[in-house]
Amino acid sequence: MPTPAEYLTQHDARIHDELFDFLRIPSVSARGEHKPDVARAAEWLRANMERAGLTTSVHETAGHPIVLGEWRGAGSTAPTILVYGHYDVQPAEPLELWHSPPFEPTIRDGNIYARGSVDDKGQLFLHVKAIEAHLATRGTLPCNVILLAEGEEEVGSANLTPFVSAHAERLKCDGVVISDSAMFAPGQPSLLSSLRGIAYFQIDLEGPTSDLHSGSYGGAVVNPAMALARILATFHDADGHIAIPGFYDAVQSWDDSTRAQIRALPFDEEHFRAETGADKLGGESGYSVLERIWTRPTCEVNGLLSGYTGEGAKTVLPSKAMAKVSCRLVPDQTPEAIGALIEAHIRRVAPPGVRVTVRLLQGGMPWRGDLRGPLFEAGRTAMQAAFGRAPVITGEGGSIPVVHDFKQVLGAPVLLMGFGLPGENAHAPNEWMSDENFIKGMQAASAFWDAMRP
Ligand code: BES
Ligand code: ZN
Repeated sequence: MPTPAEYLTQHDARIHDELFDFLRIPSVSARGEHKPDVARAAEWLRANMERAGLTTSVHETAGHPIVLGEWRGAGSTAPTILVYGHYDVQPAEPLELWHSPPFEPTIRDGNIYARGSVDDKGQLFLHVKAIEAHLATRGTLPCNVILLAEGEEEVGSANLTPFVSAHAERLKCDGVVISDSAMFAPGQPSLLSSLRGIAYFQIDLEGPTSDLHSGSYGGAVVNPAMALARILATFHDADGHIAIPGFYDAVQSWDDSTRAQIRALPFDEEHFRAETGADKLGGESGYSVLERIWTRPTCEVNGLLSGYTGEGAKTVLPSKAMAKVSCRLVPDQTPEAIGALIEAHIRRVAPPGVRVTVRLLQGGMPWRGDLRGPLFEAGRTAMQAAFGRAPVITGEGGSIPVVHDFKQVLGAPVLLMGFGLPGENAHAPNEWMSDENFIKGMQAASAFWDAMRP
């Protein structure tokens, strides 16, 4: 009988075929027209998990389905581990910027190009295959396993937390494992100790009932686009600090030892800058790039809409202006409190002459973990086994809102071991996952179960 690691190597071609089938399903959660595709991806995943040896079920929600796989063969005295991932993906637009179609996975230069390759279908699927490898070769696992896959992570996981609360007894576990993030650098695995939260809102300004001739009315009627620009300009001061009163009140400053740990990581800010293509980096003064991304909250415009943006010139005073703004949050900020502060601030600074509405569209709590205990030891051992190198502890600027809820509702520690890489174009055109990392990710996921053996 081969070992699980050998099984994964022997079945490599079939596993890749399956992954590519999974990636071909355009499970875009944000778009209504893809609802049947999201449902198809859920069913595809369920069937694949069933073949891997899990007992599976699909749970409908008010949004997209949740897929559950369970293997309870380790007995009541063995620990139970919940593996979480998401099978939904971000919209692929703008399509013309892709070098190969987003839902036709293609390997180029050792990378698997497809929407969802790294975020998060590839990273979810590698766990399914590691579980399959153990069950196919040894017929057993050292832990009871719950595999929980949702179809709404990219739209804020609104139905997942209620599901976790409603099924808290069934989902009771001793630890959660998630692969939905990146390694620190190629060949350098990492374990995450923090994620930022998010408060995402939309600001709408309405002025005159209709667009107006900018010559006949301009100068005498308040321009909503200008008013919006003035509001947005009050969000930061000249040093890059957020100037919304009360914004930092709940922020926990990072302890000196964690800050020192971050500074000790080999990180080249100039290389980071060059990769973005920006002329110069910017942000809150007094903090390094990694500190800004991992440990400090932000307030960023995500989108702006107003007036004439077509070809050539059109002299018009727009009747409306809209901005999408999101704040990344750090402990102990909450989306509700930040939403309220921002709304109050906007009402204070908005010039008379425009009607303002502020709506909180999405919220997620930040998370910081204490990386001690058997779950994290197993994570370290697994990464060392697959990559030949001990993982470094890193933070993350992105958000996985359910991580906080897993800790809160299930009381379980969360191990975040990601297999993406910097520059992977998640949420952007030409998303890719390193094929080497996909393969080593399967090996690490498999080694994790070995390391959980008492
Ligand atoms: N996989 C990401 C989370 C992530 C982002 C990890 C960046 C590591 C680096 C996840 O799929 C994601 O995109 N989350 C959203 C959450 C939001 C929609 C509530 C995010 O961070 O924007
Ligand atoms: Zn994502």
